Amino acid sequence: MDDKIDLTPGGNGRDLKKALETQSDELIQARLHAGNLKAQVDSLRHKLETIKDLPYGMEAHYDLKSLLDHYLEVILRITETDAGSILLVREDEDDGTGRLDFFCASGPGSDKLKGWHIAYGEGIAGRVASMGTAYFSDDAVNDPNWAPEISRTIGFDTKDIMCVPMKHGGRVLGVIEVLNKRGCPFTRDDLDLLAFIAGHAAVMVENARLLAGYEEKVRHYGTLMDLANLLNSTLRREEVRTRAIEAATKLMEAEVGSLLLVDAQTDELYFEVALGDEGTRKMMKEIRLKIGQGIAGWVAQEAKPVIINDVQNDPRFFKGADKKTSFVTKNMVCVPVMTKGKVVGVLQAINKLDDRKFTESDRQSFESLANQVAIAIENAKLYDQLRQTFLDTAQALAEAIEKRDPYTGGHTKRVLKYSTIIAKHMGLPTQEIELLELAAVLHDVGKIGISDLVLGKQGPLNDEEYATMKTHAQSGADIISHVPALNNIIPGIRHHHERYDGKGYPLGIKGTDIPLYANIIAVADSFDAMTTTRPYRAGLSVEYAVSELKRCSGSQFYSDAVEAFIEAVDSGEVNVGE
Ligand SMILES: [Fe+2]
Ligand SMILES: [Fe+2]
Repeated sequence: MDDKIDLTPGGNGRDLKKALETQSDELIQARLHAGNLKAQVDSLRHKLETIKDLPYGMEAHYDLKSLLDHYLEVILRITETDAGSILLVREDEDDGTGRLDFFCASGPGSDKLKGWHIAYGEGIAGRVASMGTAYFSDDAVNDPNWAPEISRTIGFDTKDIMCVPMKHGGRVLGVIEVLNKRGCPFTRDDLDLLAFIAGHAAVMVENARLLAGYEEKVRHYGTLMDLANLLNSTLRREEVRTRAIEAATKLMEAEVGSLLLVDAQTDELYFEVALGDEGTRKMMKEIRLKIGQGIAGWVAQEAKPVIINDVQNDPRFFKGADKKTSFVTKNMVCVPVMTKGKVVGVLQAINKLDDRKFTESDRQSFESLANQVAIAIENAKLYDQLRQTFLDTAQALAEAIEKRDPYTGGHTKRVLKYSTIIAKHMGLPTQEIELLELAAVLHDVGKIGISDLVLGKQGPLNDEEYATMKTHAQSGADIISHVPALNNIIPGIRHHHERYDGKGYPLGIKGTDIPLYANIIAVADSFDAMTTTRPYRAGLSVEYAVSELKRCSGSQFYSDAVEAFIEAVDSGEVNVGE
C-alpha cells in the first residue's frame, strides 16, 4: 500500500484534510453534546439527591401536613414549576363515592384553596384520581378535561399541567399536580420524577392514616375502658343511668345521649333522662314508646343495633320526641342493652358532633359500652334487691321485738318513715339516707334485752325501771357491733336518746357531738311517741306534737332536723295513721 501523502489538488492528502476537518466538527458537536449530557446528568443527580433527602415520615409522631408541604416545595423546585398542589382522597362511607381535598397548595392564590375539594372524575386531578393514571397537558385551558372554576377563583393563569396519582397497594390515596413549567414543556423525565415522588408520598400518607387509625383506636378503647370503670364503680341505680348517658355522649362524640328502659309491665320504653335542663327532662320523661315504635322501639324489638345517618327520612323515626323538645335529630346510633338474652333498655347517641356521621366502628364500640351498661344496671339491681332483703330482715327483727309491747306496734316502721322524710328535706345524699334507714329500723333493737315486766308495764316506769329501759340504747349498739358491715350505723343507734343540750343518755353528749343520724332519729322517735296512744294516755295531735318539737328545738332537738320535719308536715307528707 502506498502511504505517501499527496497534497496537490486531486491528491489523496486533500481528501484527508477535508475528512479531518469534518471529523473535528463532529468531534466538537459530540463534545458539546457530551457537555449537555453531563449538565443533564448533573441536574438529574442533583434532583435525585434532593429526593433522597426527602423525609419518609416513619417517625412515631409526625405531622403529615408539614411533611407534605415540604414535599410540595421540593417538587416545585425540581420540576421547575410555578404552582402545585397535593390533593388527598376522602372516601364517603355512606355511598362509597369519594372526593379530593386540597391538602397542600403552593403558588399564587393557593391560600384560597384551603378547604376546597373536588369530586372524583372532576377536572384533570379528579380524572387522574378516578383513572389512576398520570396526565399532562401543554394547553390546560383548552383541554377537554379542564375544570376552569378553580383557576378562575384563585385568579391563576394555568398554561400547562402535569398530574400524577399517589398510589399505594393498588389504591389511589391522592394526586399531585404541578402547573406552568418554566422555560420548556414538561418532559418524560419530569413525569418519571413526579411519579417516583408520588409513590413515596403515598407510602407516607398510608403510614399517617394507619398511625392515626391506631391512635384513634387506642384513644377510643382508652375512653371506653375509663367509662366502663366509672360505670362499674357505683352500685346506685340513678348514678349508673346518669353515667351511662354521659358515657354514650362522650364515647360517640354526640350532641346528646339517652337511655331508654323497658317497662316490663306495660311493654313500653321510657326515657331515663338524667341530663339536660329541668324542662327537657320533664318532657322526655312523659314520652313512652311501645316496643316496635320509633327507632329505639325497633332496636328493642329486633335486639339489633342500628346506625341511621338520615333520621328524618327514616320511616321508623318517631317525630314525637323532637316535637316535644324542639330538638332536631339528624343522625343516630342506637344499640340494645341486654341482660341474660333479654332487652332491658336501649342506648342512643344522637347527632355526631361537627356534622360528621356515625360509622361502623362507632357502632362496635357503642355495643361494647352497652354491654358494660347492662352489667352495671344488673349489678345495681342485684344490690338493690340485696339491700331491700337486708332491710326487710332487719324490719322483721324489729317487729318481733315490738310484738312484746303491743302498744308500740308499728313504731319502727313509722320512725323509719319520718327519719327518711327528715333526711330528704335536709338534702342528705342517697347513700347517707340508706344508712340512716337501717339505723332507724334497728334503733330500738337493744330492747330485746329488756325484761317483759319493764317493757310491757301498763303505766309510768319507776326510777329503777327507767334506768333499765335506758340501757337499750347501748345494748342495741353492742348487738349491732357483731355485724361488721353495720359499723356505720352504730352511733345512730347508741345516741338516739341523746339531747342536743347534753341532758340525754347514754353518754350525755351534746350539740354537734351527737351523730347526725341520731339527731334525726331522735326527732322522728319523739314525734311518734307523742302521736301514738300509750297505756296511760291517748295519742296527742300532730299540731300539739309539732308545737312541742318547735318548743324543744335547739334544747332537746337539733333545730335543722326539726325544721326539716315541720317543712314536711306543712307540705302534707307526714301521715301519722300509716
Ligand atoms: Fe329508743
Ligand atoms: Fe324508739
